[in-house]
Amino acid sequence: MAPRTLILTTNPGIEDIVAEEATARLGARILETRTGHGRVIVSLDEDQLYLVSYMKSIHRARLLLSRSSICGGHSCLEKVREAVLESGVEKYITPYTSFAVRAERVGKHSFSSLDVARVAGDAVIEAVSRAHGARPPVDLDYPAVVVAVDVIHDELFVSIELGGELSWHRRGYRIYDHPAALKPTLAYAMIILSGIRDGETLMDPMCGGGTVAVEAATLLESSRIICMDRSRRHIGGARLNARAAMVENRIRFIVGDAARLSSYVDSVDVIVSNPPYGIRMGSPREVRRVYHSFLREAVKVVQKSIVLITTEHKTVRQVLEREGWSIAHERRVAHGNLYPYIIVARPG
Ligand SMILES: C[S@@+](CC[C@H](N)C(=O)[O-])C[C@H]1O[C@@H](n2cnc3c(N)ncnc32)[C@H](O)[C@@H]1O
Repeated sequence: MAPRTLILTTNPGIEDIVAEEATARLGARILETRTGHGRVIVSLDEDQLYLVSYMKSIHRARLLLSRSSICGGHSCLEKVREAVLESGVEKYITPYTSFAVRAERVGKHSFSSLDVARVAGDAVIEAVSRAHGARPPVDLDYPAVVVAVDVIHDELFVSIELGGELSWHRRGYRIYDHPAALKPTLAYAMIILSGIRDGETLMDPMCGGGTVAVEAATLLESSRIICMDRSRRHIGGARLNARAAMVENRIRFIVGDAARLSSYVDSVDVIVSNPPYGIRMGSPREVRRVYHSFLREAVKVVQKSIVLITTEHKTVRQVLEREGWSIAHERRVAHGNLYPYIIVARPG
């Protein structure tokens, strides 16, 4: 089977988790990890392509058709036309296949991403017309095929979105939309970083709409999963999400206060959680109070690791170190327009 090159996109900050999953799940060879840019370029056999839709750490996967260099001036748009014409895009689009071009541009150029999309769109029509004798229809709202054209500084990538428009992190189970929901890709990364093994117990004591719990239940077949939140409404929503993901009976739901954690559970192997960010909570003193009371309880029940995503990493570090725990790992990730840290702490 011929090897194919894919661009896997994800949350900036978890590219290494994507590379690990691509190797383990797809048997892919990692060609390039663009740390901080949310992109991992891999090569894999064509007959393994279908496995990409099972990946939990990616937003999108694109089949790379061409990669070349590009300059920054307006006349360099001609390079976009040439690259699309030479990419073989006509193998994926016929006069009966609607298409749209989505363009992204990063860096300094004297053209815009709209210019790139316009030139690339015309080139797709030219390539398909030459090959099949008729033009393909453009459908910007519901295209059958999406051609992605990215200009990243001096590089030009032409690719086809696998799975069309749908970003794969928008898993189908989000029936209840928590106002501060975590991206499932980040939840997955945190579960992996916790070092949990199948069969061990995972708890999210501030689980909101249940993203961590649902991801854990779909990943760990025989683990006990506990989802707790002090809001009855959010627990109701988490239950709905778990039902939609068909894992409701794998999760124990508790309406409860994380500041009294040890009164609900005796022992869990890992806590993986996304507590409220200070930025959204108002006073710094109130933030510290919530984190202090939660973490002092957490260390009483957790055996293996506590993994948090938070902007309050300094407070977390301070409290846990005072409790005799050590920070095993810390990394910054992008989450919407915020840049929180994922912190992994272990006893001792
Ligand atoms: C950032 S949200 C979690 C979102 C969740 N990860 C998701 O994807 O839907 C934080 C949650 O912590 C809950 N919370 C805040 N303080 C709490 C406490 N003391 N005990 C339990 N839950 C708490 C809030 O109700 C909120 O749902």
